[in-house]
Amino acid sequence: MELLAQPLLNKGTAFTEEERTALGLHGLLPPQIETLEQQATRAYDAFRRKTDDLERHIYLRALQDTNEVLFYRLLLDHMEEMMPVVYTPVVAQGCTEFSHIYRRPRGMFIPYPLRDSIRRLLQHRPNPEVDVIVVTDGERILGIGDQGVGGLGIPIGKLSLYTLIGGIHPQRTLPIVLDVGTNNVDALHDPEYLGWRHERITGPAYDDFISRFVLAVRQELPGTLLQWEDFGAAHARPILDTYRDKLLTFNDDIQGTGAIVLAAALAASHVTHVPVESQRVVVFGAGAAAVGVADILREAMVEGSLSEEVARDRFWLVNRGGLVHSNREDLKDEQRPYAHPWEEVAAFAHVDPNRVSLAEVVKAVHPTFLIGLSTVAGAFDEPLVREMASQVERPVIFPLSNPTSKSEAVPKDLLAWTGGKAVIATGSPFPPVRYEGETHPIAQCNNVYIFPALGLGTVASKARRVTDSMIRAAARTLAEHSPAIRDPTGPLLPPVSDLRRVAVEIAVAVGLEAQRTGHAPMTTSEELRERVVKTQWVPTYPHYVEAARED
Ligand code: NAI
Repeated sequence: MELLAQPLLNKGTAFTEEERTALGLHGLLPPQIETLEQQATRAYDAFRRKTDDLERHIYLRALQDTNEVLFYRLLLDHMEEMMPVVYTPVVAQGCTEFSHIYRRPRGMFIPYPLRDSIRRLLQHRPNPEVDVIVVTDGERILGIGDQGVGGLGIPIGKLSLYTLIGGIHPQRTLPIVLDVGTNNVDALHDPEYLGWRHERITGPAYDDFISRFVLAVRQELPGTLLQWEDFGAAHARPILDTYRDKLLTFNDDIQGTGAIVLAAALAASHVTHVPVESQRVVVFGAGAAAVGVADILREAMVEGSLSEEVARDRFWLVNRGGLVHSNREDLKDEQRPYAHPWEEVAAFAHVDPNRVSLAEVVKAVHPTFLIGLSTVAGAFDEPLVREMASQVERPVIFPLSNPTSKSEAVPKDLLAWTGGKAVIATGSPFPPVRYEGETHPIAQCNNVYIFPALGLGTVASKARRVTDSMIRAAARTLAEHSPAIRDPTGPLLPPVSDLRRVAVEIAVAVGLEAQRTGHAPMTTSEELRERVVKTQWVPTYPHYVEAARED
């Protein structure tokens, strides 16, 4: 029974006759012996019988906790259909309903009241060897805010993708939620809420808790990749800045987003024949994601041929207070580098000098590249887009706000207003658009293109740090696999079905960059590739009894 209760060892109905005899399983399983493929067909039927997304999510999570090989086999067979159920958008429901659908333990809970014994808690981890940790404090889960302990659904979902796409062995992943309380009133009043019933810990107490956690990880699991996920805006960047040079760590919301947008931008440059260094970039929104995206694009320009200063001048950020310029006193440190001198802005700011609008900026600077990370639905309206298109041959327009209802524009309109010329990538999924007899597939800037591959690359190369140049290497390699490079009418990013293959290429590039910059032990590129391929776990059953082998 113990064997059947271990999701990574259990083969269910696939235990062979010999295994059933040797391991005392006769009588505990139905007599039919199935192959993994037959099991996957039966599991898919059961999945299809579920009537809503949450039920489908619960079904897959239960399968993951029962038979992990079958779970990943099924996901691999139906990647496009099941990824959104295991991860975004359906995982959002999994988080809000976490306490109601909770069944079996997975991952770790580190509650604030146990702050003096975090190391001991980590010693209780389910698996001794861990390659990747994804940790959240549940404060800013996707677009749905504070979910407290329910945020654990996100690290669980993300690590499933690390395995599905990156091939990180499921036994070597560890999802963690730091339970520092919640300010979600519904959760606090819900008698079934499973987290620590306390308002969020903040300030020095919070910082101290994080530093204790990091110390415990360094002591217990040195060299493990630590990914920060869905922390609130006030904590995400300071945590990253504090720890990025001290251990193998990165923040996917900031760096992963930057990488995927850079990849799509590089692919778009290929279509428009305007290199990234020559783009004039207007970013609507100047929040966490927008600054992260501007930073990586700017670094890519510098890596090309531009000086820091010239590269910075190529960005115009617009937020609630209008264009970011030197006369504004409300700017955050990370926004300041993008502030254009007021004298330059005054020349075109005629309507309200204290709030220079997106329309004025577009009119004045003739952007080649317009990015939306503002959460303002419809902000890229017809006059604005027509104005942009009147100044450039192929306007590159990325309305990236999620969910779909917050997108700054819909691709169908963008193509209509630009006479089919717009080169588009979105944040949310959109169907292909037919315009004047041609089909335009729309790429979705989903971080899933990057983080599993980045993880594979750091693990396989034994990297000691995740640097910005490794992240740019990931983006550049992804761009090289853009279908638009072979066919300019193709999508900017590869199809989901290609993710696992492309992940190998990205991982090799990440590892080589880590080696080049002295952050990983040197090997030949062939050796590194071999290690990457060997690291990628494939969901197949082990043979417990030699005699049962067919080969
Ligand atoms: P945030 O709250 O940090 O930033 C929002 C920004 O938009 C702020 O600068 C704010 O001033 C600006 N803004 C809001 N309303 C505005 C208005 N009426 N006029 C002008 N500016 C306005 O949020 P964050 O984390 O930067 O995310 C922004 C959006 O980007 C979200 O919709 C998020 O889903 C999306 N996103 C998409 C990603 C992707 O496609 N891979 C990755 C990360 C974020």
